[in-house]
Amino acid sequence: MSSGNSIESVLHETRSFPPSAEFSAQANIKSQEEYQQMWQRAKDDPAGFWGDMAENLDWFKKYDSVLEGDMPETKWFSGGKLNASYQCLDRHLDSWRKNKAAIIWEGEPGDVRVLRYQDLYREVCKFANVLKSLGVETGDRVTLYMPMIPELAIAMLACARIGAPHSIIFGGFSSEAIADRNNDAQAKVVVTADGGWRRGKVVPLKANVDGSLDKSPSVQKVVVVRRTGCDVDMVPDRDYWWHDLAEKASPDCDPVELDSEHPLYILYTSGSTGKPKGVLHTTAGYMLGTTMTSKWVFDLKEDDTYWCTADIGWVTGHSYIVYGPLSNGATTLMYEGAPNWPDEGRFWEIVEKYQVNIFYTAPTAIRAFIKWGDDWPAKSDLSSLRLLGTVGEPISPDAWMWYHKTIGQERCPIVDTWWQTETGGIMLSPLPGVTATKPGSCTTPLPGVVPDIVTEEGESLGDNQGGLLVMKQPWPHMLRTLYGDHDRFLDVYFSKIDGCYFAGDGARRDEDGCYWIMGRVDDVINVAGHRLSTMEVESALGAHSAVAEAAVVGFPHEIKGEGICCFVTLKTADGTDELKKELIAHVRTQIGAIATPDQIRFAAAVPKTRSGKIMRRLLRDIAAGKESVGDTTTLEDYSVLASLRAEDG
Ligand code: WTA
Repeated sequence: MSSGNSIESVLHETRSFPPSAEFSAQANIKSQEEYQQMWQRAKDDPAGFWGDMAENLDWFKKYDSVLEGDMPETKWFSGGKLNASYQCLDRHLDSWRKNKAAIIWEGEPGDVRVLRYQDLYREVCKFANVLKSLGVETGDRVTLYMPMIPELAIAMLACARIGAPHSIIFGGFSSEAIADRNNDAQAKVVVTADGGWRRGKVVPLKANVDGSLDKSPSVQKVVVVRRTGCDVDMVPDRDYWWHDLAEKASPDCDPVELDSEHPLYILYTSGSTGKPKGVLHTTAGYMLGTTMTSKWVFDLKEDDTYWCTADIGWVTGHSYIVYGPLSNGATTLMYEGAPNWPDEGRFWEIVEKYQVNIFYTAPTAIRAFIKWGDDWPAKSDLSSLRLLGTVGEPISPDAWMWYHKTIGQERCPIVDTWWQTETGGIMLSPLPGVTATKPGSCTTPLPGVVPDIVTEEGESLGDNQGGLLVMKQPWPHMLRTLYGDHDRFLDVYFSKIDGCYFAGDGARRDEDGCYWIMGRVDDVINVAGHRLSTMEVESALGAHSAVAEAAVVGFPHEIKGEGICCFVTLKTADGTDELKKELIAHVRTQIGAIATPDQIRFAAAVPKTRSGKIMRRLLRDIAAGKESVGDTTTLEDYSVLASLRAEDG
């Protein structure tokens, strides 16, 4: 039973949920044959396949070739000219869609705005002219540090309209993080707001920007949206109110005809070495990827109301609140605030109020819903929902089943979508009218995605052997570089496995060809020579009725090499010694003796990144009894750390 080079998989989940005949009949991709045919063609003839797909975009000038080069140096649609804001706006205006709601927005205090496609177009043109008047030229970088308000989407599309790559910084980051990113991108202008609403309080965004500016010499101008009315300092000739400038700006602004490979945006993502990585996406490939994957995975229909609950500060919001849905002419819902404000029923009230049909969220949110209890969703009518999605972390089979029963009412397919900031769009996911879903599996690759599971030496592994997840063929929406550091780009993604993109995740493929993500490879633990995925132990714990959330890490162990330490948040019960014993026995029966936890620690919460991913790196330090020394700038709630340290083993 030696595990050698692979990661042992101990999770055995056999439930399967095929789509209903009714759903398949109306779906954008309807049958297994249709999917197989698309997938095979994209693999055998990528240029032919993506060339056909590219007819879903509007080109000012048609490209000369679909694909040039091979990974890591690929060029897509060379010679073509287009504009991302044109894809999202102008092309819908000469149809009935001009009066269709593009963005339905609800603020945390309950205010509502609806922007029809032509409203959004006008606002984008005005703000594009504002940016030009502040000296922003094609190619200049613009930082957006904003709350979840329509002006954020407007600013993104305005940047795209003039070809100024945006760099969005999530509104929870500090002045320090803003300065780092401003400097790395050499941003010329920062767009922000006085503040944003979060659980009834004002997040002081402008003050945070002010705190970054003496360390951001490239920034010349700051534009401020008035959102909360809180006091801010405005520096003459540097700081401007959005409404003052937009009022005077012309509502006409021709889109710049940009090369296919013109940079659309930079988005910083955390790296293991502290310095954030500026993932760069370009225009044609990214727009094609997000357009097609939105249509395939979310099965977007003309009359759907689609809601992705992510913050636009993360890639999910870029691709699946703004670019993908708007390029398809869909109605995308945007909500400013917290899911538990004024109470834990907020999301479900929004679903009922706007008759949301498609709902896309993250496992961290689902775990919170489970903890808050079934009474909250039960208060609202969720019958408008027809499709559910999840992204960001592996979802445990039990959380998946809860989502399926309590939110989807056993009626809605669930698309568990695996992808990354770097991949630009969804890579592995069920197609809701085609794929039999399995709780905890992101199932199969989308057309154009050719994954494999390999050893450290790059040898393909067989069914159910855990290993490294790689991509063997380029896809249009992949990152092109890390901004200003092409060597790091080559090193991080392409130096580990020859000729492949290395995702950094561990995974296995089952006998039906379905993929099961086992978490980041860095999170694998080695117990007495067995390499185990911490995520699988977490899933086993999650199956116990008392457990709301679990985070599992290894710690140095004299005999086993590494021992298993479990941080457990409970739904309601008290953390007694009795319960610890019960949980240990529970994991043993669920997985086997090899995965017997050495320590169970009860905690009020576990540390997470601001996008909701559990930070196992910090927990490892705590389990090993070390003070944490690593980078914590992406940590959500520092106080969690102190209270975890205080817990006894
Ligand atoms: C993890 C988010 C399991 C994975 C779009 C990946 C997932 C990282 C899933 C990227 C999923 C994302 N199942 N794990 N469905 N989706 N991940 O860059 O470890 O914020 O490498 O992009 O999240 O996170 P990022």
